[in-house]
Amino acid sequence: MSAKILDGKKLSSQIKLKIFEEIKELKLKNITPGLAVIIVGEDKASKIYVRNKEKACQEVGIVSQKFELPETTSENEILELIKKLNTKEDIHGILVQLPLPKHIDENKIINLISKNKDVDGFHPYNLGNIMIGRESFVSCTPQGILELIKSENIAIAGKECVIVGSSNIVGKPMAMMMINNNATVTVCNIFTKDLESHCRRADILIVAVGKEKLITASMVKKGAVVIDVGINKNKDGHICRDVDFESVSKIAGYITPVPGGVGPMTIAILLQNTVLSAKEFYKF
Ligand code: GUN
Repeated sequence: MSAKILDGKKLSSQIKLKIFEEIKELKLKNITPGLAVIIVGEDKASKIYVRNKEKACQEVGIVSQKFELPETTSENEILELIKKLNTKEDIHGILVQLPLPKHIDENKIINLISKNKDVDGFHPYNLGNIMIGRESFVSCTPQGILELIKSENIAIAGKECVIVGSSNIVGKPMAMMMINNNATVTVCNIFTKDLESHCRRADILIVAVGKEKLITASMVKKGAVVIDVGINKNKDGHICRDVDFESVSKIAGYITPVPGGVGPMTIAILLQNTVLSAKEFYKF
């Protein structure tokens, strides 16, 4: 292996330590950041994500309140809960774990979350702010990726950045943030004609698709920065990645591991956003 590992676990621990110290100071002024976490249904991966988020809150001193709702919960019930949380003074962040069950309109739910408590950065207002470079609550995964890249002093301006996957929560905000950092950006999707030729041009390749070993060594330029957001279960129930780590790590200059790459960074930014929200609330 020649690629350097982009160690999200290590960087997120450093960020968490800073947040811990910051919250210690806030608590001296009787401010305790609070995060509401809503999870609907029985999706196993979502349950693990939520457990990790709660654990991270505990580590840094954020009070998290979990609302575990059954699969059969109506859209209206969730909307009513969000309305209540929007007005609660001890809740500074509201997170609705996605995906939601099919009978619930995700956009309707996200739109109702107060833009001032949208610590996931999913609300159209906050996504719009990214578009014009006035970032407040930034989408957690893209911001985590940026911080991981910047932690190695990798220059972004003028680089060819190829993003595979165009979701609202990763691909699209990631593209905007890379544009804000003056990269030349290409976003590929399932209809892209020749994925390999696009990927091979990338100085920075970010993959968020959810398809095992979609990216192989022949698709990667020598020395490229390769970021794997994919974390899925294959048909045998094993955790798998979008990038074939074994072969790509021989070609790439930098690569994220899964687990221990992007995942912990997403959580670190969520904590950062929650503290930011509490501070804004108290005009601290
Ligand atoms: N589902 C997958 N990733 C995320 C995330 O970062 N936040 C939420 N709320 N749901 C997700």
